[in-house]
Amino acid sequence: MKEQKPMLKMTKITKSFPGVKALEDVNLTAFGGEITALMGENGAGKSTLMKILSGVYKKDSGTIEIDGEEVQITGIKEAESLGVTIIHQELSVLPNLTVAENIFLGNEKTNKFTGRIEKRLINERSKMFLDQIGCKIDPSTLVKNISVGEKQMIEIAKALTKNSKIIIMDEPTTALTDVETKKLFEVIKSLKEKGIAVIYISHRMEEIFAICDKVVVLRDGKYVGEERVKDIDNDKLINMMVGRNIEEQFPYKEYKKGQVLLEVKNLNYGNIVKDASLAVKAGEILGVAGLMGSGRTELAKTIFGEYKATSGEIYVEGKKVKINFTRDAINNGVCYLSEDRKKEGLVLGMSVGRNMTLSNIEKYENKFKRIDQNAESKDVEEYIKKLKVKTPSSAQLIKNLSGGNQQKVILAKWLLVAPKVLIIDEPTRGIDVGAKKEIYELLNELKSMGKAIIMISSDLPEVLGISDRIIVMSEGKISGELAREDANQESVMKLAVGIK
Ligand SMILES: Nc1ncnc2c1ncn2[C@@H]1O[C@H](COP(=O)(O)OP(=O)(O)OP(=O)(O)O)[C@@H](O)[C@H]1O
Ligand SMILES: [Mg+2]
Repeated sequence: MKEQKPMLKMTKITKSFPGVKALEDVNLTAFGGEITALMGENGAGKSTLMKILSGVYKKDSGTIEIDGEEVQITGIKEAESLGVTIIHQELSVLPNLTVAENIFLGNEKTNKFTGRIEKRLINERSKMFLDQIGCKIDPSTLVKNISVGEKQMIEIAKALTKNSKIIIMDEPTTALTDVETKKLFEVIKSLKEKGIAVIYISHRMEEIFAICDKVVVLRDGKYVGEERVKDIDNDKLINMMVGRNIEEQFPYKEYKKGQVLLEVKNLNYGNIVKDASLAVKAGEILGVAGLMGSGRTELAKTIFGEYKATSGEIYVEGKKVKINFTRDAINNGVCYLSEDRKKEGLVLGMSVGRNMTLSNIEKYENKFKRIDQNAESKDVEEYIKKLKVKTPSSAQLIKNLSGGNQQKVILAKWLLVAPKVLIIDEPTRGIDVGAKKEIYELLNELKSMGKAIIMISSDLPEVLGISDRIIVMSEGKISGELAREDANQESVMKLAVGIK
């Protein structure tokens, strides 16, 4: 299929934001009928480059050619009419509309006579597109009632409804299960067969090797190089991205375990969390594996008081506690770091620094109830450095940070609170390969301080790599528990799909 003229040629693209040179002389070509991976660390400029292509941002300089002709992309509509569709990293579905209304948003089918939206028609057509990606969700469901993963599916279905020749996917699989990811890959392959140029951004190396033809690497806003995927391996790619080799991706350390810090007995939340019992000790990471929708996040939110348990008991350091609201959990030293960070974890209009300290601001108040800014900025600067948050300063607004760097800030926030029990949901989703390791090391540090950690993750190598013990959930129940030594891909998956 290849070796005609490229579908897309971006040449010497440069873009600055106040205080940040996001892109400098970056080149990118992509062919129809190929999947081009765009890779690089958090903040390397991937999303910015793709936002320029899709008309969200204006470039400062450089040229863009589509199908051999130079084009001026001045806005989202122009990009769409030129055949460019982007599925953003930050999901942009509207919670109070139905699935179908979201899919046809801006493209509504209205009745000629009444001007009303043809609910039945868009429901039927949505179902068709959802079927294509193997998603069984009912199109008339309100989006606020569905999971992050399902929202992602809606974005993809939405892209399919537009007749695009360049489709950009910015980290599409971060919230998908293995099964859904496989389905998505089938869809992407069919797009490829149709001659579409797919540009694919992901931090998951195995995905690049599974579906991409070519990989283009950016580092610090600059073009590093490109390779055919068949000509490179994991280590070479990591080296291109971070400029060095990374040994030992999962730095597991064992510490002496202390008393049980959190114990949950027969916890129920409606029909969603069923009879869950677990215990986690000081100095221990309890991994929680399971397919998406198995109730892992709901279990966490019930423990945290975000959902009100219908029955069951919770003990902190052996003492029975009543958790009716999240405040109760926090006051008892139990914190939850959410998977849907944009919605639940960040104040987008606030600075990087204040986002880190907000939930713990009392710590910095002096006796006159004034914030001691020196103490605050000392902590902030320490964590910016530790987690390698890419930002011009701690005063930068959080919304201007790249997706992965926003995640690091949220993580810093809870690490600063350093609760007794930290429940952490998908800690490295969207985080680059170098920074993942820093996060594992911070979790180890918390472990060494005698904290108890519950880590929910869909990244199986990660669960296996850094947990001391693993529980697996299936259909709202804890279907089994595995010691670190007995846990492997197979034993976990068996429990996850409910095979005894
Ligand atoms: N609107 C903005 N205002 C200011 N700076 C911005 C803005 N958008 C992006 N940046 C900065 O530009 C740089 C590149 O960001 P970009 O989002 O393109 O990174 P990325 O490669 O997509 O990273 P990630 O893997 O974390 O998503 C970062 O330093 C980011 O903070
Ligand atoms: Mg990005």
